Amino acid sequence: MGIASDILADRDAAWAALQWLQELGAVDPVGDAPLDRYDLAEPVREAAPEPRRPAAATEPAAMPAPRLDPVVVARDAALRAATLEALSEAMAAYPHCDLRKGARNTVFADGNPKARVMIIGEAPGRDEDMQGLPFVGRAGQLLDRMFSAIGMGRDSPDTESALYITNVLPWRPPSNRDPAPEEMAMMVPFLIRHVELADPEVIVVMGNTPAMAVLRQRGITRLRGNWTQAWGKPVLPMLHPAYLLRNPYAKRDAWADLLVLQARLRG
Ligand code: URA
Repeated sequence: MGIASDILADRDAAWAALQWLQELGAVDPVGDAPLDRYDLAEPVREAAPEPRRPAAATEPAAMPAPRLDPVVVARDAALRAATLEALSEAMAAYPHCDLRKGARNTVFADGNPKARVMIIGEAPGRDEDMQGLPFVGRAGQLLDRMFSAIGMGRDSPDTESALYITNVLPWRPPSNRDPAPEEMAMMVPFLIRHVELADPEVIVVMGNTPAMAVLRQRGITRLRGNWTQAWGKPVLPMLHPAYLLRNPYAKRDAWADLLVLQARLRG
């Protein structure tokens, strides 16, 4: 046979082989590895091509939201409040302090906002959380008795003898634990604005937490009874009434401190 008839015979053989492979199920003419398609439950499909993404120019990458500093947010909100009522609303709406989530009420203040004396306590307890007012539990009742002994009270209509009462934190910490430093840092801008708006003649800080918040000092048993200065006001640190309930012998010191306050107010 000549070369031409060899080529024709090869072509016929190749054609016949291809038809035979097709009958066996061969659909892909090229493959790197042998594949038994009778063994496949599902026919093999080509992977769908990835959808084309729009060009970066038409879809700008999302910028991560800037992280807000809760203390800066608190300062801004407090400074925007022009009245005590607006401040109370701003505090109740402040979202960054988690204590708010567990509290029944935002405890803002009680008494006469025009009083000469502003008392700053620590934080609401159970009774304060339920009633929405500061110092209404056992410690609060003792506080009322202490101040009535020098002729002063939160219900007095007379600004000379009235008291205005608030706390560093407006929400009850769980199980009455000590306030965390970051919780205090968030709420101090509101307290500073509270003092600015109420503008008392003197401040009394009751216990270590408000001493820390207002004076940046601890050690109430050392500080108590000595006038100092903060936020442009004279400040008198005193023992917290809850401490006096646990340590009745210290009531003598508290009485001495009340007389120090009275002397200043009369002075
Ligand atoms: N103790 C505080 O410091 N504040 C309150 O309101 C009640 C208890």
